[in-house]
Amino acid sequence: MTCFLGIDASTTATKALLMRADGQVVGVASSGYNYEIPQPMWTEQHPDLWWQATAVSIPQVLAEAQVDPADVKGVGLTGQMHGLVLLDRDGEVLRPAILWNDQRTAAECDEIRERLGKEQLIQITGNDALTGFTAPKILWVKNNEPEVFAQARQILLPKDYVRFKLTGEYATDKAGGSGTLLFDVRRRDWSRTVVDALEIDPALLPPTFEGPTVTGHISPRAAEVTGLRTGTPVVGGGGDQAAGAVGTGAVTEGIVSLSLGTSGVVFASANQPIIEPQGRLHAFCHAVPGLWHLMGVMLSAGGSLRWYRDALAPDIEFDFLVEPAASMPAGSDGLLYLPYLSGERTPYADPQARGAFVGLTVRHTQAHLTRAVLEGVAFGLRDSFELMKGAGLADITQVRITGGGARSPMWRQILSDVFQVDLVTVNTTEGAAYGAALLAATGAGVFPDVASACEAVIQTTGSTTPGQASAVYEQMYPLYRGLYPALRPSFDAVARIAT
Ligand code: XUL
Repeated sequence: MTCFLGIDASTTATKALLMRADGQVVGVASSGYNYEIPQPMWTEQHPDLWWQATAVSIPQVLAEAQVDPADVKGVGLTGQMHGLVLLDRDGEVLRPAILWNDQRTAAECDEIRERLGKEQLIQITGNDALTGFTAPKILWVKNNEPEVFAQARQILLPKDYVRFKLTGEYATDKAGGSGTLLFDVRRRDWSRTVVDALEIDPALLPPTFEGPTVTGHISPRAAEVTGLRTGTPVVGGGGDQAAGAVGTGAVTEGIVSLSLGTSGVVFASANQPIIEPQGRLHAFCHAVPGLWHLMGVMLSAGGSLRWYRDALAPDIEFDFLVEPAASMPAGSDGLLYLPYLSGERTPYADPQARGAFVGLTVRHTQAHLTRAVLEGVAFGLRDSFELMKGAGLADITQVRITGGGARSPMWRQILSDVFQVDLVTVNTTEGAAYGAALLAATGAGVFPDVASACEAVIQTTGSTTPGQASAVYEQMYPLYRGLYPALRPSFDAVARIAT
């Protein structure tokens, strides 16, 4: 039974997923860990955690699924993006990895814009400098821990540390590379202009590979630890968002994936490197050769509903909380909710942005508030759609929804009404690890290309079409759009008081 292994080194766990060549998942094992918060807004994780969790998950999934390691014909890697791993000349970790959600690099983001000019930066990399990206983290270590940086011989992303431990090779994939802010997104490789302007030695950066391309093979040492066969090929894979899009079949222009977890991610494939001129959307390479993608990230999507439940209705199960909101009118009788509980990334890259209910009256009930939260998240996600259309991605024909929020039929209906597009669910729910396994299968020649792999194994399971409420939301959306600009001075002021 030929199988492929997808490994996802996420922020909270490393997951190993075994997939049969026909796309059937035969086993999943996962081993969890935490991250450190050494100072407020800083997040770090020791790379050894990912490797230890990999070394637990792979033997576990092989044993539980009773798969002979000789039948595993390829491994695909995915994981948290943007994190900075620094290794010395012996491949030893120099300091804990600085993670994607670490916010310490505001000064370095300014430094990058100054060194390159914001316009040139966006033109080359597709993106503005955001604190989460890798390049500002590199500058932070250079500026603040020069003795550590002086010893660095290799820069890697989190999943590529796992790759190094599995294969002994330094490599990364195009999707991950483009999330560093050091990539020429059009050329799909490191930008000499950016790397030189930031005075980073290009020898520190690994070679880059397309998602299905083999980057190395399981080493004898890794075979001993994981139980896999020495020589099993390991493909490039992709950052978690790109691999997740492969896992839901968002691999053609016009098909957008919407992942509704704690955060909300709108991901659109593009046949060309489309760049939002102000860098408000992320423009990265896809894990699919020859494709790019645009991405909008809302930090508190499902997180808004969780906060609302925990703060205002802690004793009510989610289903019971959400159900009464179905009988409230679309537009929640004039109540609007802003979802910027943790600041925001798209469309306002603003750590000071705050959440709000606007329009409250004595008539509003708990059910109104619940509905307003669901609607506010939908409006905020529509902002990403509007930016995508404005950037030139005119024809969005279908949205594939995944994540915990996808389970609520009411939320799906609200999203379909607000976006005015068909929203479909799919049969694959394992996300990025599944996408990584499909990339490995494509690399092994089971499928001629990634699109064929997705077509063969991913089916839609349900569809929600826009209904009458669309007209109400069309009226409310401009009101929602007006709130952030109006409230921004107040957000800044309350943020100052709160700190
Ligand atoms: C993508 C992003 C997150 C992280 C963590 O831009 O920041 O998806 O990769 O999952």
